[in-house]
Amino acid sequence: SQKKPLSGKNIVVTAGPTREKIDPVRYLTNHSSGKMGYAIAEAAKKLGGNVTLISGPVSIQPPAGVKVVKVESAEEMYQAVLKEYDHAQIVVKTAAVADYRPKYAADQKIKKQPGEEVLQLERTKDILYELGQKKQSQLLIGFAAETDHLEEYASKKLKKKNADMIVANNVKTEGAGFGTDTNIVTLYKKDGSVIELPLLDKKTVAMKILEEACLLLGANGE
Ligand code: PMT
Repeated sequence: SQKKPLSGKNIVVTAGPTREKIDPVRYLTNHSSGKMGYAIAEAAKKLGGNVTLISGPVSIQPPAGVKVVKVESAEEMYQAVLKEYDHAQIVVKTAAVADYRPKYAADQKIKKQPGEEVLQLERTKDILYELGQKKQSQLLIGFAAETDHLEEYASKKLKKKNADMIVANNVKTEGAGFGTDTNIVTLYKKDGSVIELPLLDKKTVAMKILEEACLLLGANGE
């Protein structure tokens, strides 16, 4: 049988939201369902890859045959990705990682007080940026979830994070972004080329992203 395009390659995919603890009963999070990232893991597996799926808390089932690492916070996700990074050929950062976390996570439930409560936040690590800094020969693919100025922000992310491709989705568009089974994405590649995809099932979007990744790997001479 024909050799599959990703056989012998290690693919790391992050998916889902992160949870940033406020106290034992509360946290900050977002609307990521994990569907986009899980679809990428499934597509990478179909193409023959050894897939590690690093996932925040979601309610969907992982695809068969992939290694799943469950994490909660942005910091845990960072540590988990770093562990896999050196021996990865492709990293796809689909997760919706929190940019901020509570500065002080309380050990006890925070009790109601009269008046206003102010929650102090601090920045989490920008995982994609850190990976871009540590990049050797890995193909680094990030996402951009935007509500406006898609092209400008995606191009900026591509450069600033030293990524090879940014998959941009306008999360305000019907049928795109968080929670849906479909997505509308535009791929921005390092060589300046742009590929605009129509509304598609997330599984189809995932396959198209990985087909582009295979081309880029090929161009890197592997
Ligand atoms: O999970 P679904 O419901 O299917 O929804 C899919 C999705 C909308 C979550 C997905 O398509 C998507 O856009 N994922 C990226 C969400 C996001 O956090 O975008 P961003 O523009 O804030 O971040 C840009 C990139 O940096 C992303 O690759 C993100 O993983 C990464 N990042 C962000 C913050 C941070 N602290 N560390 C990061 O690595």
